[in-house]
Amino acid sequence: MPTPVWLITGASNGLGLVLTLRVLRAGHHVIASVRSKTKSADAVQKIEKAGGSVIEMDMTESQESIANKVKPIARIDYLVNNAGYSILAACEVITEKEAILQLTTNFFGPLYTMQAALPVMRSQGFGTIVNVSSVAAQDPLPACSLYSASKAALEAASESLAKEVARHGIRVLIVEPGNFRTNFVSALADASPDPESIPPHYDDPVGQIVRKFLTVHGKQIGNPEEGVERIFEAVTGEGGKAGHLAGNVSRLVLGSDAWRRMKRKSEKDINELRMQEESASSTDFVE
Ligand SMILES: NC(=O)c1ccc[n+]([C@@H]2O[C@H](COP(=O)([O-])OP(=O)(O)OC[C@H]3O[C@@H](n4cnc5c(N)ncnc54)[C@H](OP(=O)(O)O)[C@@H]3O)[C@@H](O)[C@H]2O)c1
Repeated sequence: MPTPVWLITGASNGLGLVLTLRVLRAGHHVIASVRSKTKSADAVQKIEKAGGSVIEMDMTESQESIANKVKPIARIDYLVNNAGYSILAACEVITEKEAILQLTTNFFGPLYTMQAALPVMRSQGFGTIVNVSSVAAQDPLPACSLYSASKAALEAASESLAKEVARHGIRVLIVEPGNFRTNFVSALADASPDPESIPPHYDDPVGQIVRKFLTVHGKQIGNPEEGVERIFEAVTGEGGKAGHLAGNVSRLVLGSDAWRRMKRKSEKDINELRMQEESASSTDFVE
């Protein structure tokens, strides 16, 4: 059997780097993308030493530029759209530049990457696209409007795409992490306005959520090694605690915090739906 090939974005840090090294340990091939080989020299060295290849790709590049980088890859078994970050701020004060950067990085870049990988997967007759989203898409907290919107866009596109490509043997899996101990909060602090600048009328609840995120850094409940293990199992179907989920779930939930939030949100949604059956049906033509 040919060696499976993975394309993993955002491999310079966090979940992307841990997943890249895990996949390489399994003897699979990885093409790992980082924004800058120079800036991420340590990660690049680790990946290349473990047998992986590294390319430079920024999620803010144009559709054409991303296509030019992905199209030369002759075989892609697994595409993992992992690169991403969050801005935390009150919705009212987010600038146009910040809003566009958030949506471009977390939605348009992954979209263009999928579009470039799909012809390869279609011609192979198989492939799995893994889109790393966030519980924030399903249960958006205050201060997370743009981050949640970017991940919700990715999730909606993923669900539609899954229905378009199933007949070509291509699967799409959405990953829903809770809080994981990566560089995420540190990157978030860099990308977000200074908490001191939060207008007083938004201190409750925006300021409270921002301060909570910043103080959790290094103490998050999620273990990245375990998180990527579940991703590996759920996409390859190879045993472990999530192997049985392969092909059976559209969303892979990672972390007890994410699972609890999604359950609470789903129950709220179903209760609201039940309350509205009569009112919703009342808008139909009576013929
Ligand atoms: N950790 C969590 O609590 C958590 C929770 C829910 C969802 N997630 C999602 O999980 C994914 C991985 O995050 P992480 O926790 O591993 O955070 P991380 O340690 O900060 O890693 C994020 C990765 O994304 C890359 N990246 C950021 N902006 C990019 C851009 N414009 N172009 C290309 N790469 C870019 C970073 O590259 P640089 O090193 O160059 O910055 C880094 O490799 C993200 O999509 C995140 O939204 C994380």
